[in-house]
Amino acid sequence: RIAYVNGRYVAHDQARVSIDDRAFHFADGVYEVAAVLDGRLVDLDGHLDRLERSLRELRIAAPMARRPLTFVMREIVRRNRLRDGLVYLQISRGVARRDHAFPAQAGPSLVMTARPVNLAALEAKAGQGVAVMTMPDIRWGRCDIKTVALLPNVLAKQAAREAGAYEAWLVDAQGHVTEGSSTNAWIVDAEGRVITRSLSNAILPGITRASLMAAARAAGITIVERSFTVAEAKAAREAFITSATAFVTPVVRIDEAAIGNGAAGSVALTLRALYLDHIR
Ligand code: PDD
Repeated sequence: RIAYVNGRYVAHDQARVSIDDRAFHFADGVYEVAAVLDGRLVDLDGHLDRLERSLRELRIAAPMARRPLTFVMREIVRRNRLRDGLVYLQISRGVARRDHAFPAQAGPSLVMTARPVNLAALEAKAGQGVAVMTMPDIRWGRCDIKTVALLPNVLAKQAAREAGAYEAWLVDAQGHVTEGSSTNAWIVDAEGRVITRSLSNAILPGITRASLMAAARAAGITIVERSFTVAEAKAAREAFITSATAFVTPVVRIDEAAIGNGAAGSVALTLRALYLDHIR
């Protein structure tokens, strides 16, 4: 495997960054994960738009313009001979002596990696559906920025996995689901309406979420952006999650409650097919 580190393509196992990188000291960096299908980057413009916004919000300088960045992403796909997989890219504020305030000198660091994914295994997981576990959302007030500060997400995912669930659904102080630890959260109500929380500082604006919305609306499927409670989700006809890594994956259990008849929902599977059609 080949990685990219600050201007160089290097063997993944040999790739190194400084111990003074601010991502290491302060999680002072942002990232993106984009899927690759048939060698093509999925929803690339959306990911680059969001990356630029994350950088702006944190006042981190872009390490390069969009065109060369796109070139490096495609080059990482090419050099890894990636057909189906994921590209990870991370930009930190740079390398500087540890001091909380922004460094005067340092420029941003850029790291990119790629790995293949087993599409058949992903497809099987979607067909089966996954379990989620709800827990309090203890994250900060800017969950709309895709930063590498993911400790609450890590703890939530680990708690879910230890309980035999695939994903954690995070719940705000009002009892509403915000999103998953690394996915957006959706339900389908008794009338077949597809519901997901509206964008705010409380959730990441998922690129898969936006892309699926466009595909669904083009197909005449109504999408409602509003908050929903855990109780409403448990009583929903269907539930599902979206992300660059899961695409659209049905949820068949929330805590102890089976969703619908306990099998992957037909609306979710239809939306998955619509989404995959839309991006291919
Ligand atoms: N996670 N919400 C959170 C908190 C996320 O971390 C992610 C993505 C999403 C879905 O966003 P998108 O559709 O753009 O992938 C929602 C990535 C995949 C990760 O951290 O691995």
